[in-house]
Amino acid sequence: MASILDKHQILEKNATLLLVGSLLVVSIGGIVEIAPLFYLQNTIEKVEGMRPYTPLELAGRNIYIREGCYLCHSQMIRPFRDEVERYGHYSLAAESMYDHPFQWGSKRTGPDLARVGARYSNEWHVQHLADPRAVVPESIMPSYAFLKEQRVTVKDVGMDLKANEDVGVPYNDDMLANAEADMKAQADPNADTTALLSRYPKAKTGDFDGDPAALTEMDALVSYLQMLGTLVDFSTYDDATGYR
Ligand code: HEC
Repeated sequence: MASILDKHQILEKNATLLLVGSLLVVSIGGIVEIAPLFYLQNTIEKVEGMRPYTPLELAGRNIYIREGCYLCHSQMIRPFRDEVERYGHYSLAAESMYDHPFQWGSKRTGPDLARVGARYSNEWHVQHLADPRAVVPESIMPSYAFLKEQRVTVKDVGMDLKANEDVGVPYNDDMLANAEADMKAQADPNADTTALLSRYPKAKTGDFDGDPAALTEMDALVSYLQMLGTLVDFSTYDDATGYR
């Protein structure tokens, strides 16, 4: 025992040798942890139901980011009992796999929004975003009434889908070619949405902002909020295997 410690003294008394020794140990540890990751196809478990955002939802997501909603809201339900009871099933990695960048957030001034979709009516969202205190008197959330006046720029959406495709979101040619049409159709109560729904299953359609004549930023943002957390069917999801 004493002799091992004696030998170790050589390292401890020589700063350069200690540095070289430490680097060696840290590198071995690093390689053991990191190298296997390069041989995995994907670190995210596939989950049924996930699909890329519709063009309108994607535009809504851009507004969410532009307005800094993520500064007050998280989109990440942690696997703790209190969170699961309040917000629903904890978030799966797959649920943000098409998010570039992800919107997990780091602070909750307001509640988590990962599963806010379908929890309130469109009317509630529009009223709440326009004047939060009209529906939640003690709210400190800012008003976003101007979103009802601002038209969505439809012509940019194709490029937006393409940019997402470039970073790995599986938008196919059909989706890219129909981006503008899909965007208009989703918020138009009179549109034929069969093709849209076959491309984007479970998309909510119809007028979102209470003004069917205009395609506004409010339409886009509400369509995005109404989709959040609704794609994976947790009645058929099994925690252990991912499927049931
Ligand atoms: C300054 C912080 C702040 C910002 C910025 C903010 N919110 Fe909120 N939000 C809150 C607070 C606080 C609440 C809880 C009170 C209420 O419902 O108004 C809330 C509630 C909500 C709710 C209801 C959630 C629920 O489960 O009841 C939604 C939806 C929402 N915010 C969406 C947004 C969106 C979209 C944006 C960006 C356009 C945004 N918020 C920006 C603070 C904020």
